[in-house]
Amino acid sequence: MAKKTQRGIRGPESRAVRRATYLAKQDEKKSKKVKAAVERGMHTHLINKFPATFLRARPNGAAVRNTMTNDPDQLAALPTTGKVQVPLRDLPDSVTVPRGLPPHLIIRFDRFITDADQERLRKRWDDVLASGAKPQSGKHANRSADDPAFHFGIWEVTSSAPYLTADTRNQTPQAITAIDALLKYIGDFVAGKIGSVFETHAPEQWEAMQRAYLRVQNLLAAELLARPSLDFGGAFFAVAVKEGGSGLVHIDWHDSHAIWAFVFAVGDWEGGEFCAPELGIKIPIRPGQVFAVLARVVAHFSAPVTQGRRIVFTCFTDSLTVLHANPDLVTVVA
Ligand SMILES: [Fe+2]
Repeated sequence: MAKKTQRGIRGPESRAVRRATYLAKQDEKKSKKVKAAVERGMHTHLINKFPATFLRARPNGAAVRNTMTNDPDQLAALPTTGKVQVPLRDLPDSVTVPRGLPPHLIIRFDRFITDADQERLRKRWDDVLASGAKPQSGKHANRSADDPAFHFGIWEVTSSAPYLTADTRNQTPQAITAIDALLKYIGDFVAGKIGSVFETHAPEQWEAMQRAYLRVQNLLAAELLARPSLDFGGAFFAVAVKEGGSGLVHIDWHDSHAIWAFVFAVGDWEGGEFCAPELGIKIPIRPGQVFAVLARVVAHFSAPVTQGRRIVFTCFTDSLTVLHANPDLVTVVA
């Protein structure tokens, strides 16, 4: 039996208490260390007004180009490494943020895609190019270069039901094999991680995506059985791939106001920062990083790639795919 002394309880029970106290202190030290490390590597860029210039505007590319600068030199550069975030909280009370938006306009995640995965993505993209795959949509309005831009996957643009994009369907069997291998790699090694940060950082929007996912799974059951590579687990439904970047300032009008597009790039290059003139900033997207952005809200363009090769993947979801499963998600009416 434990004996009470002047210095407290002695015996096996007291040892257990001391050990528990010691472990709790160690845990506390450890979590403080982890928190400090996270804070050291994290850059928060606070804004004092919501970028509302095109919030309710109808699609008009020329209006964006006429209103916003296309000069990266006029923008302040944010750090190249570490996590970067542009939160929507902490705005003055007088600023209204539309209901249904996630807590951040932008988050850049560091060390997200391994070197090996980047190399395998590059190889699979080269296989797509070598297969003779052709982009079906012609020259893309957002691009300043002549490199082809592909839009693979599922969307609902101007329709009442989801369907496979023309770039996904109208290809030779050889090209489809190469496209499916690329998309399967993204599905197996990138989509799960994106889903996980999506769910953590924007749970309400993630739930909306999961409702959209259920609807797409029901409506396109046969197509997904035939092409399982098009199933990204509801983290996104389509992937745009191109080399270089979108050099002209633009809004991605077909995106939902409330749903992030996730951008990452593969290769070895200089330049190509994500430029957001309305926020006055440019943010590097380096190999291995993944960049989440509300691309229907934040007008943006890529700084020129001054050297090397940059293959850009944009994992996105068009607004109707979200809206038809979540009619009340956002209050913004375009
Ligand atoms: Fe864009």
